[in-house]
Amino acid sequence: MPKQTAPPLAPVDPGTALITGASSGLGEAFARHLAQQGYRLVLTGRSVDALAELAHTLESDYDATVETLPADLSDDEDLQRVVDRLCSPTHPVGFLINNAGIGVAEELHASELDDELAMLRLNVEVPLRLCHAVLPGLLRRGGRILNVSSVAALMPRGTYGASKSWLLAFSEWAHTRYRAEGVHVTALCPGPMRTQFHDRARISLRRRPGWSFTAVDQVALEGIAACQEGRAVHIPGRAARVLSRVSRLAPSGVVERLARTGITATGSVDAASTKRTERTS
Ligand SMILES: NC(=O)c1ccc[n+]([C@@H]2O[C@H](COP(=O)([O-])OP(=O)(O)OC[C@H]3O[C@@H](n4cnc5c(N)ncnc54)[C@H](OP(=O)(O)O)[C@@H]3O)[C@@H](O)[C@H]2O)c1
Repeated sequence: MPKQTAPPLAPVDPGTALITGASSGLGEAFARHLAQQGYRLVLTGRSVDALAELAHTLESDYDATVETLPADLSDDEDLQRVVDRLCSPTHPVGFLINNAGIGVAEELHASELDDELAMLRLNVEVPLRLCHAVLPGLLRRGGRILNVSSVAALMPRGTYGASKSWLLAFSEWAHTRYRAEGVHVTALCPGPMRTQFHDRARISLRRRPGWSFTAVDQVALEGIAACQEGRAVHIPGRAARVLSRVSRLAPSGVVERLARTGITATGSVDAASTKRTERTS
């Protein structure tokens, strides 16, 4: 009797992923790797041109289906459009990546309150609102949420670290609460990466040793894998794992001093921003 061959498996549709802050840095790397894995993508960010260019590249390189959703997440109406897209019953999103985030270089006594509040909105309130919007659908269909925190969440690192600690604590709770119901929530805690993050926050990288950086692509790939494997927390790259271990073992005063002087976590305030602070104080 001729040996029967199994019918070819239908390709698995991984579904749709929505990425905030997809116009540069880590968000762009997430988009590239997910397009490669066959996800349909919804890309958000403020930069209309950067999103359109990325969408065009992903469509031609990977034959990906890409939607762009330009939005300033500090604006209520723009944020509502992202919420509406997440709640769409006809084009459901199965994978949310809360990646958009900013830092404030100055310490609290010297910073502008508006900058602090803008950071809190983008790093804390926006992920909370987007998780709140997407969770009911994910609980019906199953799905994933990847929240981009930071190693700064694991050490005394000013208001930026505190905002990322919120995202880490929230993700750990949500992971435990929802995993049995088919929703996997992961916190990704990268160390320093070479993106636009430091320039935007006017943070100098001059004193940062080269070994402390992790490649953006490695962080994106490890983050996606950690979420797909259903892990609660992932620290990508050896350098970030060393930083997190040191910060756990050393006294908090020592870690805080090292972080402030630019050896760990996110860098130090550059001269230009110090001058700005002096002018405005
Ligand atoms: N780089 C690091 O060393 C490092 C380390 C640990 C954690 N992280 C975290 O990694 C994440 C990604 O940052 P990155 O390093 O890739 O920095 P990045 O290159 O500056 O990217 C930040 C992204 O957020 C978007 N964004 C900023 N403000 C926004 C707003 N108001 N509304 C909508 N989108 C906004 C930006 O897009 P538009 O300008 O187009 O809006 C951009 O796509 C952040 O959460 C950051 O805290 C970074």
